[in-house]
Amino acid sequence: MAIERSAPGKVILSGEHSVVYGYPAIAVPVCDLRSTTHIVANKNVDSLHIIAPDINKRFILSQTYKDNPLAMAVYLVLEKGNFDLPLGVMTVTSQLPLAAGMGSGASVTVSIIRALSAFLGCEFTNETISQLTFQVEQIYHGSPSGIDNTVITWEKPIYFKKGTPPDFCSIGAPILLVIASSGIQASTREAVKYVQARRAMKPRYFERLFENIGSLTDEACIAIASGNLHVLGEKLTANHRFLKQMGVSHPKLDAMVDAALQAGAIGAKLTGSGQGGNIIALVDEEHCDPVRNSLYQMGSQKVWQTTVASS
Ligand code: PMV
Repeated sequence: MAIERSAPGKVILSGEHSVVYGYPAIAVPVCDLRSTTHIVANKNVDSLHIIAPDINKRFILSQTYKDNPLAMAVYLVLEKGNFDLPLGVMTVTSQLPLAAGMGSGASVTVSIIRALSAFLGCEFTNETISQLTFQVEQIYHGSPSGIDNTVITWEKPIYFKKGTPPDFCSIGAPILLVIASSGIQASTREAVKYVQARRAMKPRYFERLFENIGSLTDEACIAIASGNLHVLGEKLTANHRFLKQMGVSHPKLDAMVDAALQAGAIGAKLTGSGQGGNIIALVDEEHCDPVRNSLYQMGSQKVWQTTVASS
């Protein structure tokens, strides 16, 4: 018996960091870049063997620490479903860049939980998958808002507020995004801690920044629903300026945002926790290639494009 399940990546359109403090954020799935878990039963092995070729890892579940995120996802499924340990081989692959703000950790976890629960005869609901993924995310992030596990599990654009059920965005016109990697790996946990420390020193300044980003996010949500991409673009670029003031940008990310705007992007910003990772640029069909080319010229390591379909 064999089973395979996959999960998308994600990008945050608006509201990263402020979302940790209860303000809204908007995230969309990146369905073209996915993590996949494939499980094959094998009665001749004595445990579950886990292979993750992208990160060069291969281990046997019974010989691994429980706080290894891949092992933790497996144990959470076994515990939740009251399942016995399956014997076989689980292979986990991902097309998503690591530590780049595209939700690679949550994507891998969702694919494991979906595949393993299906393999054991009872595929968990999205609510359960998201909740278990959140528990694993706490290892990656420390104090995640919950946005990654939510958007990746439901695979739909969401307007997200910490601690509330997901609110799905309606999309008035397709959103074409160019995503470009700075090539700088950055830790979400460290970036979140950095904002926390700066906020403790300047609470009023940060509250104002968060409020401004919260307002932008609400306006972006209205622009998305009505298909007004020009307004959405303005909100994205304004959001980048606030993230820069927060201290989570990087000279290379700023240069990439400027290059995308000069090449005709409607709006551009860093996405995710920042200090490295990726930017997104909102483009129309005509400017997609020029923006992609200028991002490569600016030293982007990789450039993707994705479309969020209207709904
Ligand atoms: O995983 P990343 O890098 O996309 O960052 C998640 C966004 C933050 O707001 C910085 C953290 C969080 O948990 O919401």
